[in-house]
Amino acid sequence: MMTKEPIIEMAHVKKYFDIRDSKGKKGTLKAVDDISITIHKGETFGIVGESGCGKSTLGKTLLNLGAITDGTILIDGQNVTAFKTQKEKIAFCSKVQLVFQDPSACLNPRNKIKDILAEPFKIHHKKEMSKKAMEAEIDRLLTMVGLAPEYKQRYPHEMSGGQKQRIGIARALALNPDVIICDEPVSALDVSIQAQVINLLVDLQEKMNLTYLFISHDLGVVYHLCDRIAVMYLGNIVELADKEALYHDTLHPYTKALISAAPTIAEEKTERIVLTGDVPSPANPPKGCKFHTRCPFAMEICQRKVPELMEVSDNHLVACHLCNKEE
Ligand SMILES: Nc1ncnc2c1ncn2[C@@H]1O[C@H](COP(=O)(O)OP(=O)(O)O)[C@@H](O)[C@H]1O
Ligand code: SF4
Ligand SMILES: [Mg+2]
Repeated sequence: MMTKEPIIEMAHVKKYFDIRDSKGKKGTLKAVDDISITIHKGETFGIVGESGCGKSTLGKTLLNLGAITDGTILIDGQNVTAFKTQKEKIAFCSKVQLVFQDPSACLNPRNKIKDILAEPFKIHHKKEMSKKAMEAEIDRLLTMVGLAPEYKQRYPHEMSGGQKQRIGIARALALNPDVIICDEPVSALDVSIQAQVINLLVDLQEKMNLTYLFISHDLGVVYHLCDRIAVMYLGNIVELADKEALYHDTLHPYTKALISAAPTIAEEKTERIVLTGDVPSPANPPKGCKFHTRCPFAMEICQRKVPELMEVSDNHLVACHLCNKEE
């Protein structure tokens, strides 16, 4: 059940990467640039945006405790960015788990499913667990994700894409997390399988009282699943609102363009914006509003002044000069 109690509070989070261009010149890539979000217990919070806009990096800041460039992150009231020792970090990281886009990438092909599912218990010092108790846990996890316990004897290559993603989900659930970051969890699956995996995630959320940070480039998927949605462009949030407000009172031109491009939800919308051009390089983003090179409404001010993310109506935030009444 969704509450108003915060479980994740990110304030001014930045994640920069040191990079070198093809000529060897040093630079800074601002993958996540000053993002603040609060996510509530039991909520499904969506992050959408085109590939390369920083969604995965943002998700990983919640796992990579302490390794952000700037900002603070509270998880369940604890300042995880202040953790100093590895022990503190490990004790805490069972609270937040990640489900990846490509389940194969995180399932060691040489290990049987039962060994893969035993890993989280081993890492988290549950060595004292008896073999029998471990087997019972593994059976429980498999059943929870809709697979027969016999699957524990299989190897990853003996399973379908959907089944492998179920294993990825089971592994994320092993330590009873509070938050699961679902990073494009169905993008690599056949369309026919996607709905099954999404339904499983929804079921599990209810049963286990989970909070989801759901990342996708597909606004259609996010619309059906999320309570609130943040739209990202080149490291920034450009619009953040309850999903209905985001769809029906869309304010940011980029969000309008994403909706126009999502065939399953675009029908009822009248205003269609077709994006032209590629996403600019995040290593060298446009000045002012980073979207001005592709925005059909760009004005002179957009080239020089960064629009701030502001609340324009209840819980509806947008970063666009068109919406700033003071200018
Ligand atoms: N370890 C890294 N070193 C340098 N650049 C990175 C690293 N990880 C991600 N990036 C860059 O950060 C930007 C955001 O990447 P990512 O978070 O993966 O975007 P998304 O998940 O939205 O596709 C991209 O330009 C990507 O190339
Ligand atoms: S600030 Fe200007 S360029 Fe940016 S989205 Fe708004 S109108 Fe378009
Ligand atoms: Mg990604």
